[in-house]
Amino acid sequence: MAERARVAIFISGRGSNMAALIYAAKHEECPFEVVLVASNDPEARGLALARAEGVDTFAQSHKGHERAAFDEVMEDAARDARADYIVLAGYMRILSEAFVSRWKGRMLNIHPSLLPKYPGLDTYARAIEAGDSVSGCTVHLVTGELDSGPILGQTEVAILPDDTPDRLASRILIAEHQLYPRVLADYVSRELDPDWLVEKVGELALELPETLARTSHGAPGWRVGTEKSGKFFAYVSIHHHGEEAVALLVKTSGPDEMAALIEAEPDLYYKPAYYGASGWIAIRLDTGEVDWDHIAGWLRKSWSMVAPKKISGLIAIAEEF
Ligand code: GRF
Repeated sequence: MAERARVAIFISGRGSNMAALIYAAKHEECPFEVVLVASNDPEARGLALARAEGVDTFAQSHKGHERAAFDEVMEDAARDARADYIVLAGYMRILSEAFVSRWKGRMLNIHPSLLPKYPGLDTYARAIEAGDSVSGCTVHLVTGELDSGPILGQTEVAILPDDTPDRLASRILIAEHQLYPRVLADYVSRELDPDWLVEKVGELALELPETLARTSHGAPGWRVGTEKSGKFFAYVSIHHHGEEAVALLVKTSGPDEMAALIEAEPDLYYKPAYYGASGWIAIRLDTGEVDWDHIAGWLRKSWSMVAPKKISGLIAIAEEF
C-alpha cells in the first residue's frame, strides 16, 4: 500500500470523534494514520484514550498566550509529528488567519449541523426551535470564516417530535463518528482518484485562453483554438495503452528535451506509448504528491507550443499587465 497520510488531531475535550478516527485508522486499508493528538487543555479526556491507544500526544494550555502565538505552539507540535493534515475534532478555539492559511486545503473540521445552517454553538436547540425536520453533521475544510469552508460531506439526522437538544446531539454524534473517518479517508486519497485528477487538470487547462475540453480516443483532452480547427495541448492518460500510470501528456520541444527530462527525473517523467514518438511527454499524476504549480507551468508551455500565433500572443500580452 502507498504511504498513509499523516494526520494530527486537535481536541479540547471528550474526544469521541478522535476515537472514531483512531479506530478507523487501525484498519489496514485505511489511507491515513493518526500521528498525534494535541490539545489546548491538558485535562482533555481524549488525551488519556489516545495515549492508551499508543498515539503520541501533546498538551499545552492556551491560557496566557496570545492567539497567533498559541496557534504556532500547536502547529509546531503537528509539524514535529510530520503531519500532512490537521483534523479538528471538538477543538474549541478560534484560529488565527495566518495559521489557517498555512494549512489551506489540509485542515478539516466537523460541525454538528447541516452547514451552512447553524454555524457556531447551540446547533441542536436552534434546529429544534426552528421546527426543522432534519439536522445532521458536516465535515468541511477550514477557512478564515468560522464553520464555512468547502463542504466535503454531510449526514442528515431526522429530528423526532419529542427531541431534546441532548437526545438529538447523541444521535448526531453517532452520525459524526461514521462520517468523519469516511470523508477524511476519501479526502486524503483524492489525488489517487483518476476522476479527481482529470477534474483538477481540466480546471488548470481551461484557465488558459481559448481552450475547450475534448475526448480523444477515450482519453480526456484539452484543445486550444476553435471547436473545428483547435489543436490538443494536453491529455490525461488513465492507464492508456496498457500503461501502469495515470499521467498528463504535454508537448515538449522534441526528443532531446524529452530524453533529458526522463534522465533527470525517471520517477516523474516517461515516454508514453504512441504519443511519445511525436514529442509528447508523460508526467505522472498518480504519485499522491503532485506539484500543481509545476503541472500548470507545463500546461501553459504546451499550450504556447501548439496555439496559433495570434492566440499565443494573448498570454504574452496578459503577462505585461
Ligand atoms: C462534536 O459534536 C463536534 O461536532 C463538535 O464538537 C463535538 C466534539 O465531540 N465540533 P468529541 O470531543 O469528538 O466527542
